[in-house]
Amino acid sequence: MKPIQIAPSVLSADFSRLGEAVCELDSAGVDLIQWDVMDGQFVPNLTFGPDIIASTRALTKLPFEAHLMVLTPEAMAARYVEAGCGRLIVHVEACNDLRKTLETIDSLGAKAAVAINPETSASAVADVLDLVDMVLVMTVRPGFGGQKYIQSMEPKIAEVRQMIAARNLDDTVNLEVDGGIGVDTASGAAKAGANVLVAGSALFRDPKGLTHAVSSIRAAATRAFTAH
Ligand code: DX5
Repeated sequence: MKPIQIAPSVLSADFSRLGEAVCELDSAGVDLIQWDVMDGQFVPNLTFGPDIIASTRALTKLPFEAHLMVLTPEAMAARYVEAGCGRLIVHVEACNDLRKTLETIDSLGAKAAVAINPETSASAVADVLDLVDMVLVMTVRPGFGGQKYIQSMEPKIAEVRQMIAARNLDDTVNLEVDGGIGVDTASGAAKAGANVLVAGSALFRDPKGLTHAVSSIRAAATRAFTAH
């Protein structure tokens, strides 16, 4: 089983000091950094182009992943790999040919991951588990940080975990959750089977600082994950 990992979403950082935020997240003990890439079409928000991500690449050795909330992930994939993202997450809902898109990411030398929105069933990823290094179950509607965790996603998280386990892929395929994750929701998500937790506002709004936030969420998730 893959270990618990904390992946901060830069979406909640102070955009006027993104470089410092990346360094501070590194010092706070996160395992990787997630860039929420939005095109204003797949979701009603517009965020990071590849050049912004590339400008911070040399500041940390942490892995970068790009959560491509875009209508044309295949067309954009190469630019985000060149920018330094070692994993690209594409949405089932945005892919005409999901397998082809995942194979394209693999051919670029990056890890391929697939995301499903709250309204999309777990079965949508059943046929591509052999191609991915991670499944992302969204626990909010994509587009903005600071939303409320949708607890009713937990049975879907458990269903995806069962699908991974049924194919003996627990040691190769991660299960990530994204949206409304904090110390009070991490345990439910981890108990259901998530081992990678994306958090944005819960990290940046913790009055005791990033290190405290990261360690608190990790501790809550680890306790629950090992118990599940
Ligand atoms: C939604 C974004 C957010 C973000 C995390 O499209 O993907 O889920 O990463 O934001 P918080 O942790 O504030 O919900």
